[in-house]
Amino acid sequence: MQSKVTEIARDTYRISTFHPDYGMQFNQFLIKDDEPFLMHTGLRGMFRTTLEGVTSIIDPAKLRWIGFSHYEADECGALNEWLAVAPHAQAVCSFVGAMVNVGDFADRTPRSLTDGEVLQTGRSRLRFLSTPHVPHGWDAGLFFDETERTLFCSDLLFQAGDPESVNAPALVERARDAIMDSLSGPMAKDMPYTPYTDDIMGRLAALNPITLAVMHGSSFQGDGGKAIHDLATVIKKVLSGANNGS
Ligand SMILES: [Fe+2]
Ligand SMILES: [Fe+2]
Repeated sequence: MQSKVTEIARDTYRISTFHPDYGMQFNQFLIKDDEPFLMHTGLRGMFRTTLEGVTSIIDPAKLRWIGFSHYEADECGALNEWLAVAPHAQAVCSFVGAMVNVGDFADRTPRSLTDGEVLQTGRSRLRFLSTPHVPHGWDAGLFFDETERTLFCSDLLFQAGDPESVNAPALVERARDAIMDSLSGPMAKDMPYTPYTDDIMGRLAALNPITLAVMHGSSFQGDGGKAIHDLATVIKKVLSGANNGS
């Protein structure tokens, strides 16, 4: 496996690895700044590949922050490998994430952020948003780079396959197809629809991001507020009426 590196916003790099066994991309994002920030670690089994990608941009030993949305192997499975190569690096995640999982799992104490708290990495100002159960997980949160207006979306806008780095055609439609597909099969029901979902999606759309950094699939440049709004409509329509039976 090899990673492909693309600058999707100023000093914001997408490090993409297509994994044939999963039939999808695993994308990590690096903000090159005074205190470099990596958004998700990637799977532990893909660490060497992701490390190569990061090394093509910065000295990985200089990494300072490792953010992610929720506790899953693709979000933070390689955390301890990263902490080993970057002696000043620290995980940064939600309060719940730190309390429930990461405080125990990580070889170095994580920093937890409350809803709305800002992490300044130098030029970039990252606002943390607590987003319980969006895309999934009690501990879920997302980061919004207010400087570049990039929203790091985690699993939102999931697209299968190995699409273009940025602005694959019909991105929201492809995300809708993936949500429809996720209603059945062995990997079904990854995303819940909860009493909090509409408010959280509305809050994300109101950020009016101009870049959407998507973990699985193509990233997006353009009217990110509209894309998130359209995705929220799809989620509501498809998931609020989903049959809860198996
Ligand atoms: Fe996930
Ligand atoms: Fe993911």
